[in-house]
Order: sequence, then C-alpha cells, then structure tokens
Amino acid sequence: MSDNQAIHRAAEIIRRGGIVAFPTETVYGLGADAFHPLAVARIFEVKRRPYFDPLIVHVANPSKVEELAKEIPSNAKKLIERFWPGPLTVVLLKEEDIPDIVSAGLPTVAIRMPNHPMALALIKECECPIAAPSANPFGYLSPTTAEHVRDQLGDQVDLILDGGPCPVGVESTILSFLEEKPRLLRPGGVSLEEIESVIGEVEISPIKQDRPSAPGMLPRHYAPRTPIVLDWDEKHLDSYKDKRIGFLAFQEPENFLKFQHIEVLSKKGDFREAAANLFSAIRRLDALDLDLILAEAFPEAGLGRAIMDRLRRATSKEE
Ligand code: TXA
Ligand code: MG
Repeated sequence: MSDNQAIHRAAEIIRRGGIVAFPTETVYGLGADAFHPLAVARIFEVKRRPYFDPLIVHVANPSKVEELAKEIPSNAKKLIERFWPGPLTVVLLKEEDIPDIVSAGLPTVAIRMPNHPMALALIKECECPIAAPSANPFGYLSPTTAEHVRDQLGDQVDLILDGGPCPVGVESTILSFLEEKPRLLRPGGVSLEEIESVIGEVEISPIKQDRPSAPGMLPRHYAPRTPIVLDWDEKHLDSYKDKRIGFLAFQEPENFLKFQHIEVLSKKGDFREAAANLFSAIRRLDALDLDLILAEAFPEAGLGRAIMDRLRRATSKEE
C-alpha cells in the first residue's frame, strides 16, 4: 500500500468512528474524530488512560482554532503564527460543542497543528479535527516509531500509519492562556526561550502539584520498567558494581564503569538529535532486563529542559 492509499484508508476509518495511530513531528498519536465521543472513548480504553486526562485536538489549519475556542488571546495568536505547524499546543477556553470526553469536563481545549505531512494529509482528508494522545499505554514512554506502537498497542488499533521515526522526538510544548500571564504546562519541542522571545516572560508550573492541570505533569509519567537514576555521583558507583547497568549518555561517556550497555543520544552534543533519540534509546535499554539505568543530566536550556523534564518523570519514585 502506498502512503497515499494508507492515508486514504486511515481517513475512511476515522470518518467511520475508528481509531488510527499516526506519525507527527513529535511522537506518534492515537487519533479519532474529535466530535465522535464513542470513538474517543475507545482511545481511553485502549490506552487505559484515566478519563480525567484531556486530549489534544489536532488541526490542519490555524483558522480552525476559531471554531474550537471561544477566544484567542493575542499572545496565543502570535505564537500560532510563529510556530504552527509545529510542536506547540495552546490551551484555550473551549466552544460548547467539543465533547466533554475530549476535554475531560474542563472548560478548556488543547489544540495544535502538527508539522508532519502524513498527519496534515490525514486531518485534511477526514475533514474533522483529530483528538489524539500519544499512542502508548498510559504512563509509559511515547512512541517515536510505528514499531513502538505495534509492539504495545498493535492489534487494538484499526490502522497504524508508518511515517518513519519522529524528527523531534519529545512531545509538544503546552502553554495555557487562561490566566493573565501565559503558563507553561509542559516543556516540549518548542523551547521556553523561543516562546519568550515572541511574547515575553511566561509562568512556569512546577512538576509536583496536588491536582495536576495536565496529567502529563504527574510526577511519574513517561516511565520505563527499569528504574532510571538521574542523581548519581561517581563517588557512589562502587555500590552498583554487581548490578547490570545501562548508561544513557548525552555524548560519549568516560569509561569509568563496565556498563552492560551504553546509549549515546548525540555524539556531536546536539540537543535536537538527543531529543529525537531519547525515547527509542530508553526503550532499547528497557528491553535489556537491566537492574538500573544511569542517565546523564542535561543543561536546563533549550530542548534540554524538555529532555530533563521527561527524565525526571521517568525516575520519579512516586506513582
Ligand atoms: O506532541 C504531542 O503533544 C503529542 C502528539 C501526538 O501531538 N501528544 C501528546 O498527547 O503528547 P498526550 O495526551 O500524551 O499529552 C497531552 C497532555 C496531557 O498531559 C494532557 O493532560 C494535557 O496535554 N492536556 C490536554 N488538554 C488539556 C487542557 N484542556 N488543559 C490542560 N492540559 C491539557
Ligand atoms: Mg502521552
């Protein structure tokens, strides 16, 4: 089947109320017609995702936002103009007709226009916005290849569109416009610095909250089965010497321990390349039946912030 034929079939499935996994520039999504509550409910079932966790609505044209949101603050407009299509999600007050299951009963809706030819062609062809979370079981790492989706959700979805590896590799940046000052709910593919260069200072939500406004903000999220340790110290490496250890390195590591396996995220030290490789590298380590994974810390700047956010959530002991 050619890509065009596959997109055609996928659109047909979505129009009939089915669910389709599709590539975006960030991670693979699991999509349904945003205005078909039963189809959206199946996404929650397949992912075992709690119903209090709302979905992002994907559009193929910025003008669609006017139909989905009550109002678009000028800062949101500026960012949409600058970064769409791209890894930026805006949270706005929603129009009444968006089904509650999509917004989890909140008065708001999260919207983004992905920068991936297959995703855009799919949305255009089904002629409806597509509600889609990342195509992984709830709480696990997001998939960045069609293979990842097949491994974990394979027979439970109606079709998987294969667009190869996702070029960005971490999820979209989520910004909320409900308060006077825009608020960063999740760092992601568009860096905070890039956003602030367009609209000035934004508020930053801390990871730990009693009642998260985005469950992607739950401390333990994006977690592999193998424990990941981020706060390790060379001084303590002796205590790990009888263990099977994997190492998640930014660049080439110095060889001070016999690691079972090493994953290098970017030999040349490029944050973009590191982000694009992050989830695949963790999955490869997670498949090796290791006792633990030591991860190297990234500087908290640019994409390093999104990478550190995902690593922290993957290491958190709390459920
Ligand atoms: O890059 C991405 O954003 C990917 C691709 C597939 O587009 N999607 C993605 O979706 O990461 P998901 O569902 O795995 O994460 C979306 C996050 C969740 O943490 C959810 O709680 C939050 O967005 N969210 C959705 N609607 C929201 C809303 N109305 N207010 C606050 N947070 C919201
Ligand atoms: Mg997700």
